[in-house]
Amino acid sequence: MSDFDPRTTPWQIDESEFYEVEGHNAQLAFLLRYAVLAPSSHNAQPWSFAICDEGIAVRADYTRRLPLADPRDRELLMSVGASIANLRVAAAHFGYETTVMYQAREEEDLPVATVAFRETCSPAPELARLFPAITARRTNRQPFEPRTIEDPALSALCDFMDEHGKTLHFVVTHDRERIAALIEEGDRTLMADPAFRTEFARWIRPNVSSATDGICGDAFGIPGPISALGPWLMRQIDIGPAQARHDRALAQGAAGMIVVTAEDDRTSLIRAGESLERLLLMLTSLGISYSFLNQPVEVGALRGELWAMLRSPHPPQLLLRIGYAVRPVAKAMPRRPAESVVAR
Ligand SMILES: Cc1cc2nc3c(=O)[nH]c(=O)nc-3n(C[C@H](O)[C@H](O)[C@H](O)COP(=O)(O)O)c2cc1C
Repeated sequence: MSDFDPRTTPWQIDESEFYEVEGHNAQLAFLLRYAVLAPSSHNAQPWSFAICDEGIAVRADYTRRLPLADPRDRELLMSVGASIANLRVAAAHFGYETTVMYQAREEEDLPVATVAFRETCSPAPELARLFPAITARRTNRQPFEPRTIEDPALSALCDFMDEHGKTLHFVVTHDRERIAALIEEGDRTLMADPAFRTEFARWIRPNVSSATDGICGDAFGIPGPISALGPWLMRQIDIGPAQARHDRALAQGAAGMIVVTAEDDRTSLIRAGESLERLLLMLTSLGISYSFLNQPVEVGALRGELWAMLRSPHPPQLLLRIGYAVRPVAKAMPRRPAESVVAR
């Protein structure tokens, strides 16, 4: 596939092709083109799929784990959950009702879940309406405009947050400064560890590259000519203090912050990832941007402090800021083609 550009081709899906593919299994394979557009930690895309008698078996690909950034595979499992959310949203758009059967046993070689599909005249509207956002969603790490969320969008977002009240929580204004300080401390702690930086460096890609995974330099504002040096710089220099100041300012200037909470077992994390992606698609539909500031969750001691601030019986898993982007993300991050993650 010489004309395959991992930063554009996977994102340009001609949805009318769905009606041209022949047979149920081919249609399910088509839906996977949307599943692989889900966000994932370091854009590692730690998933694989198999079309089976029941529907689609979803596996976590533990060969893509991040032992330093994500030693308990929490982000890995939420990433897989995000791909399930995209699968269900696309299925609803094309007229399917979906049921997810979660695998309670935690052996790594078992699928984490199986998604069953049934054709219906009334697919779930709360899923189907998120469909256009799948290809439009981008993580935007740039500063946001200094303004609050507009009223109609805020009210739609609040309704959505209420529906997912066990998993998604707004950070109250009162806690914002303390959380910004935790983010700052998290950056300093994580980046001071050369092993953490080396792992991160392995997933940084030049802006122009044939890589189908990882994060390109432009996602962090690194211009083309020096983006190829990104991994080397990350390994050599402790950017912690500078990153800490930058991220603290992002947190302080955000229109809002949202925490994802869930228990640490596999099914809870998969489900949290589904809620996360539905939130990101909802934000995208409302014209609101977001990025992750998970540092306090990734440092054990800080995670406890963050949890103590929340009114949730479940521990924090992710921390996001939201707001209106000054600049849209110019180019999507790469993806592996769906065919390459479907087991034969
Ligand atoms: C579970 C999870 C954790 C993530 N953690 C971070 C993070 O800590 N910092 C960050 O900048 N991006 C984080 N991301 C965003 C990914 O880096 C991003 O989804 C990926 O690079 C693909 O880019 P896209 O979201 O624009 O498609 C996370 C995404 C997921 C799903």
